[in-house]
Amino acid sequence: MDNSKQQKVLVFDFGAQYGQLIARRIRDLGVYSEIVPCDLSASEVREKNPSALVFSGGPASVYAEDAPSIDPKVLELGYPILGFCYGHQIIAHTLGGKVGHTNKGEYGPAELHTKGGALFEGTPESQIVWMSHRDAVVEVPAGFTVAASTDVCEVAAMQNVEKKIFTTQFHPEVKHTECGKQLLENFLFAICGLEKNWSIDNLAESLIAEIKEKVGDKRVILGLSGGVDSSVVAALLSKAIGKQLICVFVNHGLLRKNEPEEVEAVFSRQFDVDFVHVHAEERYLELLRGVDDPEQKRKIIGTQFWKEFFNVAQEKATDGEPITFLAQGTIYPDIIESGARKTGGKASTIKSHHNLIPFPDGVSFDLIEPLDHFFKDEVRALGTTLGLPDSLVHRQPFPGPGLAIRIIGDIDSEKLRILKDADAIVREELDAYNARLAVETGDLHSQHSCWQYFAVLPDIKSVGVMGDERTYERPVIVRAVESSDAMTADWAKLPHDVLAKISSRLVAEVPGLNRVCYDITSKPPATIEWE
Ligand code: XMP
Repeated sequence: MDNSKQQKVLVFDFGAQYGQLIARRIRDLGVYSEIVPCDLSASEVREKNPSALVFSGGPASVYAEDAPSIDPKVLELGYPILGFCYGHQIIAHTLGGKVGHTNKGEYGPAELHTKGGALFEGTPESQIVWMSHRDAVVEVPAGFTVAASTDVCEVAAMQNVEKKIFTTQFHPEVKHTECGKQLLENFLFAICGLEKNWSIDNLAESLIAEIKEKVGDKRVILGLSGGVDSSVVAALLSKAIGKQLICVFVNHGLLRKNEPEEVEAVFSRQFDVDFVHVHAEERYLELLRGVDDPEQKRKIIGTQFWKEFFNVAQEKATDGEPITFLAQGTIYPDIIESGARKTGGKASTIKSHHNLIPFPDGVSFDLIEPLDHFFKDEVRALGTTLGLPDSLVHRQPFPGPGLAIRIIGDIDSEKLRILKDADAIVREELDAYNARLAVETGDLHSQHSCWQYFAVLPDIKSVGVMGDERTYERPVIVRAVESSDAMTADWAKLPHDVLAKISSRLVAEVPGLNRVCYDITSKPPATIEWE
């Protein structure tokens, strides 16, 4: 039996900048952890049957009017508690200590002097920690003692050993806190007595069990794009509920070469789901004819997706059990990026997601988002555990509007043919380049491997000469960037022989091309995509 989730650490989210990292760090240490809204009531907390609670940081002051607060009864439930930054201050404030303004805030590294104690067991008396605060606890609540100080902050850590409440002004979850991992281990294993028993391998099992219980004999519908997140959700749901899952794959004709065939092969043969391949290629081409504005293209593609999706939903609704649930591949960073679930918790997430989906009148679903606690690399690892092929699990990021925003100007089937063929060559050569780098550096994600790489077709022609003939054909632009999160990117300093091979292959193998350019702009000032 999978008992890995019988131990569970709940991370109360006070809107922390670093908060999302805490649950992740705890899972990496082998204990299941999930984030919950900070305003859960004591009875809701008890219902979740946690082993320990962690209170995250957050940007507010405990004295601010709309400061996130807790149900004070949560502190009386008897669970061990670890609090950081705002979490440290709210515990002091709620239990009758005093939070005040220090003369100057502390931001960045600080030297901490500890007085020993269970949380600091095995760490040096003087250690570097990461601070980011203006307010500070100036008087500890009754029953607490000061466990560590910095020059600026007298109560840099406090503890109530009897109640197993340990709090720090600094952030143990960030890498710059040199003993942060040890402090988390001390809390989880020595103080709470938990066992290391959770890994990505048993995540699949427990998620499948949860989905089965939630869905029962109802049906679930999912828009499958072929991207990592929706593919992992589809694989997970297929293991949990099989043909009760309807996977709607809207083929807009703007995917990369061979992708639709691969998605269909995986989800109609390897996984047992009700797979619907909607061939909408012609409809999309018609809708996009003559449209050259990138935002207009995005809008048309997004709106048509939901039309196609709801057509299938409506057709399917007439045969079999009701379709009660809509599954989505939302992952934790999506929630952070969209600004949802800051301090308001799950309810606000569900609302904001619903707002993005243009439900037809009278249609509503409950949402299932099984990946919403997890980070991309955890989701990829889960996909591998579930048996998805590497080509799906380790796909480079690909925009929802697909090749439409890589054909500058208006789109037609001939331009799509050229771009698909060109893009396949760029990917083949740079996949091979990344693989060589991985072997040379012994690192699968070496600093200089290309993170995203593709071809772009500009809306111009240029003169060339092939054989003895003058040509007047299209150039193609190769884009390859190094990045970790797409927020910033540098153009990849590809070796000349790699560029030369890409160039000669493109012109030799793709009819309609006679020139190759390499984009050597970083982001900023450019963006990764051209449109
Ligand atoms: P930019 O071009 O803004 O792209 O530097 C950053 C990342 O986002 C992807 N991208 C999109 N993804 N829909 C998407 O799903 C879009 O409209 C879109 N535009 C850009 C881009 O591929 C890169 O990874």
